[in-house]
Amino acid sequence: MRDEPGTLSCAQDRSSAWCHQTKEERRLRYDFDRPVQREGTGSVKWDGRKARFGAADVVPLWVADMDFQAPKPVLDALAERVRHGVFGYTATSADYQRAVINWQERRHHFTARPEWLCHSPGVVAGLSLMVSAYTAPGDGVIIQPPVYHQFNAVLKALGRKTVDNPLQYDGHRYTIDFEDLEQKAQSAKLLFLCNPHNPIGQVWSRADLIRLGEICIRYGVLVIADEVHADLVLGDTPHVPFASISEEFASHSVTCVAPSKTFNLAGMQTAVVIIPDPDLRHAYDRWLHDYHLWGLNPLAATALIAAYDQGEEWLDQLLAYLRQNVALVCRFIAEKLPEIRVRPPEATYLMWLDCRALGLEEAALERFFVEEAGVGLDGGHQFGSGGSGFLRLNVALPQATLLVALKKMEQAVRNRSVSEGAKAAR
Ligand SMILES: Cc1ncc(COP(=O)(O)O)c(C=O)c1O
Repeated sequence: MRDEPGTLSCAQDRSSAWCHQTKEERRLRYDFDRPVQREGTGSVKWDGRKARFGAADVVPLWVADMDFQAPKPVLDALAERVRHGVFGYTATSADYQRAVINWQERRHHFTARPEWLCHSPGVVAGLSLMVSAYTAPGDGVIIQPPVYHQFNAVLKALGRKTVDNPLQYDGHRYTIDFEDLEQKAQSAKLLFLCNPHNPIGQVWSRADLIRLGEICIRYGVLVIADEVHADLVLGDTPHVPFASISEEFASHSVTCVAPSKTFNLAGMQTAVVIIPDPDLRHAYDRWLHDYHLWGLNPLAATALIAAYDQGEEWLDQLLAYLRQNVALVCRFIAEKLPEIRVRPPEATYLMWLDCRALGLEEAALERFFVEEAGVGLDGGHQFGSGGSGFLRLNVALPQATLLVALKKMEQAVRNRSVSEGAKAAR
């Protein structure tokens, strides 16, 4: 159901002031309003709702993938590859390397060499291989919570020690606690850097990265820069790849990138691990080969090349759409849900809602919105220290559905205020 040219985007709610757009914004529209049926496709986000939330009908606003189709050039390239019909063992090709390198150069001014590129069947799988390659059981690995929960999960699974360097929050922005980092770095082997940072949506500045990198280099801590959200910058702070800062930073780091978040290809399970230092690279490759994970899914390789070579126009329009969704959430919350505090994310399609004024901690917050509003968001407690009382909202969905979800949340909070008020009056 595509909007007619010049009509508003909120197909199910055209009268709504919440979806107001300027002419300029409307001209940018691609096809992101069109709902795509994802139920029955084995989608974790949609078909996994019952298992995750105990209810199969919540509006799914969790799992970091998007409810949008991948760019048309990717769909076309996949169709052509399928028509070819032979799907034998596949390795990275010169085309694959060129596509990754050109993308990094064009979008992030990071010049990588072809031999630096290693394959991984996903960023998290790559992190596990790196932990195995670069540390021994019991070694310390620094993470900066609240942060992507799989960082801690990987370390726990592999028997490494998670060393928290918690971010500091002043009610508006998060900052890195460098004094604490300096102390923790003395007894750690690796640091998982999340940049842009999931779930808080911040892009670390060049100055922050330099300060962090200098500390890590001083104490021999290898920086694993997870930059999977790097292409999704929405604000004015540019993404600076850690390894692009200097040769020294490049050789003391490993960078993870992928087309998965950018082009909604997470299920393709392919990521690129960039390792400039030859010894570090060989150590990683050994583990990749020992587990026989070196091969590429031929469809994933095709999708990656098409996305990086031809997906740029789609991405720029996606970013414009996401900015509109973010603006919609900020306006709605400011006017209708003042109990919740939120700032537009600098990057990612994930919004970090400070719900602490609701007085619901840990899992109770997530459960409240599941049971009383029928919406499924990720409770912030999962992201470690400092996450309790927050929710992570995924806004990569058609605006009309996003608005429905916000209205359900508003109604649930209002009902709760009424019942709390009645209790207090008793
Ligand atoms: C920071 C970060 N790293 C890695 C991943 C997952 O990457 P993959 O699916 O390639 O394992 C996510 C997914 O949300 C993420 O937010």
